[in-house]
Amino acid sequence: MTLDLDTYEALAREDQTHLLHPQYYAPDHERPVVFDHGQGVWLVDVQGKRYIDALASLWNVAVGHGRGELADAAAEQMRKVAFTNNYVGFSNVPAIRLASKVIDLAYDNMQGVFFTNSGSESNEGALKAARFYWNLQGRPGKVKLISRERSYHGGTLAASAMTGLPAFWKYFGPLAPEISHTKKPDNLECDCTPNSDGECACWMEQAILREDPDTVAAIIVEPVKGAGGVWTPSDDYFPRLREICDRYEVLMIADEVITGFGRTGRWFALEHWGVQPDILSIAKAITSGYVPMGAFIVSAEIFEALKQAPTDARFMHAYTNSGHPTAAAVGLRNLQIMEDERLVENAAVMGEVLADGLRGALEGHPNVAKLRHLGLMAGFSLVKDATTGETFEPSAQTAIRVQRHMREEGGVITRIVADHVVFAPPLVVNASEIGQIVDATRAAVRAVTGT
Ligand SMILES: Cc1ncc(COP(=O)(O)O)c(C=O)c1O
Repeated sequence: MTLDLDTYEALAREDQTHLLHPQYYAPDHERPVVFDHGQGVWLVDVQGKRYIDALASLWNVAVGHGRGELADAAAEQMRKVAFTNNYVGFSNVPAIRLASKVIDLAYDNMQGVFFTNSGSESNEGALKAARFYWNLQGRPGKVKLISRERSYHGGTLAASAMTGLPAFWKYFGPLAPEISHTKKPDNLECDCTPNSDGECACWMEQAILREDPDTVAAIIVEPVKGAGGVWTPSDDYFPRLREICDRYEVLMIADEVITGFGRTGRWFALEHWGVQPDILSIAKAITSGYVPMGAFIVSAEIFEALKQAPTDARFMHAYTNSGHPTAAAVGLRNLQIMEDERLVENAAVMGEVLADGLRGALEGHPNVAKLRHLGLMAGFSLVKDATTGETFEPSAQTAIRVQRHMREEGGVITRIVADHVVFAPPLVVNASEIGQIVDATRAAVRAVTGT
C-alpha cells in the first residue's frame, strides 16, 4: 500500500480523532508513522518509506516480520476451532505442547506454566502466585513486593506500582502500598560491583530489611532493565541477589518479558550468571508479537505446593484467553523457527557486532556516556559533558532530536528513554543491517550535537 499525501493526512486526522495510544500525549501523534507491512528487520510505512526496525517493534519481533509460517500456524489452528477454554477439566493440544516446550527451554527448576495475554498480566499473576504460595505455607503475613528503581513491569495497576519509573505513577495514585522500590541506602559500604546504573545487590537487601523480611513475599527483577534504558547488571549482582532471597526467605520473580527467548544471547538471561528464579514472567518473543501471549512459570516447589493445596485453596486466578489455542500454536511454531535458525546463537554473535559498532562509532564522543549491552540489547546515554557526567537539562530534548534524525535521515527506528538511546533489533538481524543501524546512529549524534 502506498498512500498519496492527502490520504495520509486524512488517516492521520482520523487517528487523532479516535485512537488513544499507549503512553498517550497528543503532540506525539501529530504526524504518526503509519506502518503497513514488514519483512525481516524491515518495516514499510503507508507512504512506502522503509525503515530498519532496531527495536524489534517493542522488543518482541524476535523472528522478524513477514513470517508466513506463523500466519499459516494461526490459520491452521483457527480452522480447527475458534477457542476452547482451559478452565476446570478442559485443555487443548497447542497449550499442552507449548507449556512442555517452554519448560524444556527454561531454567531446570521451572515446572508449571500459567499462560496470560501480556507481560503485565504475567507480573500480576506472578505476584498473586507468590502470595498464594506463602499462604499455603502458613505465612499469610508475607504479602509485600519489592522492585527496583528504573524497572518497568507493565501497565496494570499492580504492575504500574512495581514499575520503578515515577512517570508511570503520576496522576494514577494511590498505588498498592504493599509494593515498594529499592533506593540508594545512606552510607553504604560494601564490596559489590555496581550495575551499569549504579545499583548493587545491597540496595535490595536494605529494602527487604526496611520492609521486614517476614512481610515480604517476593522481589521482582528484570535481568537487564529494558524500558528503563537498558541497564545491565554486574556479574556478581544476580548471584548475590539469589543468596539474599534465600537468606530472608523471599521469592525471586525474574521478569524476562524482554530478556526471555534469546534476546541476551541465551534462552533466558539469568543463565549468564547460573542463577534460577522461583517464578519467571515471560511474554513478547514467545510469539514474536504475531499474536498476544505471555506466561508466568512457577518452580517445581511452588507447583507442588499448588498441587497439594487443601480443597478450600483453589488458585482462583484466571483469564478467559489463558492458553488460547491460536496463540499457543503460533508460539510453538515461533520457537521452532528460533531453534531451526539458531537465532539465540545469532543474537549472541550479532550482539557483539552491534556493541563493537556502537563503540567504534561513539566511544570518546564528548556527549556520549555509558555504552552498555548484553546480547542484542544495547544502549548509551547522551550527556552534556562525558568527562564530568553532567546531564542535559531539561532531559530528553537531545535524545528526541537524535531519534528523529535516525528515523527521518537514517531510516532506523529505535527508542529513547529520557536521555538514553536503546537498541534491540530482531534476532534475525545480520551484520550489514547492524552496520546501517550504527551508521544512522553515528550520523544522528554528530548532526544533533554538532561534534
Ligand atoms: C520487562 C517488562 N515487563 C513487563 C512488561 C509489560 O508487558 P505488556 O506491555 O505486554 O503488558 C514489559 C513491556 O515492555 C516489559 O518490558
